[in-house]
Amino acid sequence: MSTILLAGGAGYIGSHTAVELLESGYDVVIADNFSNSCPESVKRVEQITGKSVKLYEVDIKDAAKLENVFSENSIDAVIHFAGLKAVGESVEKPVLYYRNNIDTTLSLLECMNKYGVKNIIFSSSATVYGEENPVPYTEEMKRGTCTNPYGWTKVMMEQILEDTAKADSSMSVVLLRYFNPIGAHESGMIGEDPQGIPNNLMPYVAQVAVGRRDHLTIFGNDYPTPDGTCRRDYIHVVDLAKGHVKAVEYVMKNKGVEVFNLGTGTPYSVTEIVTAFEKANDIKIKYEYGQRRAGDLPESYANADKALKVLGWKTEKNLEDMCRDLWNWQRNNPQGYNK
Ligand code: NAD
Ligand code: WQD
Repeated sequence: MSTILLAGGAGYIGSHTAVELLESGYDVVIADNFSNSCPESVKRVEQITGKSVKLYEVDIKDAAKLENVFSENSIDAVIHFAGLKAVGESVEKPVLYYRNNIDTTLSLLECMNKYGVKNIIFSSSATVYGEENPVPYTEEMKRGTCTNPYGWTKVMMEQILEDTAKADSSMSVVLLRYFNPIGAHESGMIGEDPQGIPNNLMPYVAQVAVGRRDHLTIFGNDYPTPDGTCRRDYIHVVDLAKGHVKAVEYVMKNKGVEVFNLGTGTPYSVTEIVTAFEKANDIKIKYEYGQRRAGDLPESYANADKALKVLGWKTEKNLEDMCRDLWNWQRNNPQGYNK
């Protein structure tokens, strides 16, 4: 069976993808510096699947150290999750973000070139559609203007990968544009474990539910949407992980560059999703309305037709599943992996 290197695989999406790959019969190697994760997530992946993962603690920016991973394993494809992802922090520390996100990509491409690895799947984001494109987003739309350095790193990395594939016709690149991944594995053993105050909506909601935060502030209720709060395309992280298994099959059979949206195609507002969490788990979430957050778009959601047509992938879980599984993880792990 093929061996897949998950760069940044100890993180939220990487750990869920590791489970799905192992359960589909792939061998998994993870390289991570644990800057936003911990080895415990990988142990839990092993417990869920009953299979072992080869784990390397390495800063992927450091191509010389990363080379060790390539020399010791026969890698068939790389999935590149390794990156910093906090939008607000990227505005305050742009150089850190450009350095980390671009350099991890360049190091991976250099090692792949040296060891003849031709297949790479990249964790891109709906954020590359920018401010100009109308919803629902389709893959052939031009990348737009981002509102923050994090988004620009994704735009730049997509360009770097496209240029690399253009120069080497034996390469296969898949750019996956994720929408808003939430939820957790149904075992409740792995999930999202943000450091400090969560930047994203659902981890914040879960921490209010478990008593770590007093209340949620909903950022703005005067947007041009049905209930005035922003609408997003929330996708269950296990559906997203399964999309990676399909992308692995695809990247190994094809050449060139292909882009796929991974979303449900259905937007929900902040108010709707908070209400859904309350109903699914029979819990009240204390919230108040506050100011808009800088850089937020009123709406972001996918046209998910291409992934269905080309990869044969579509989401299977609904909003209730996302809310229930998120709470199952948070309730079982109130302090995340720190117990
Ligand atoms: P995450 O922070 O949980 O996972 C990223 C992993 O990369 C972490 O384990 C971190 O320690 C590791 N990492 C970062 N820099 C590294 C380096 N220099 N060397 C080695 N490891 C490094 O984030 P996630 O939510 O799992 O996201 C995975 C990828 O998907 C990221 O690239 C992110 O930008 C992208 N993405 C995430 C979302 C989302 O909402 N979660 C949406 C769109 C795109
Ligand atoms: C969702 C909605 C907020 C927190 C971000 C990145 C994107 C992607 C996914 C990351 C918005 C509202 C939030 C809170 C709130 N990549 N909200 N109170 O902004 O759609 O996307 O994460 O790697 O690139 O920009 O997700 O979860 O932060 O916000 O009202 O405390 O919830 O205003 O409308 P977003 P989010």
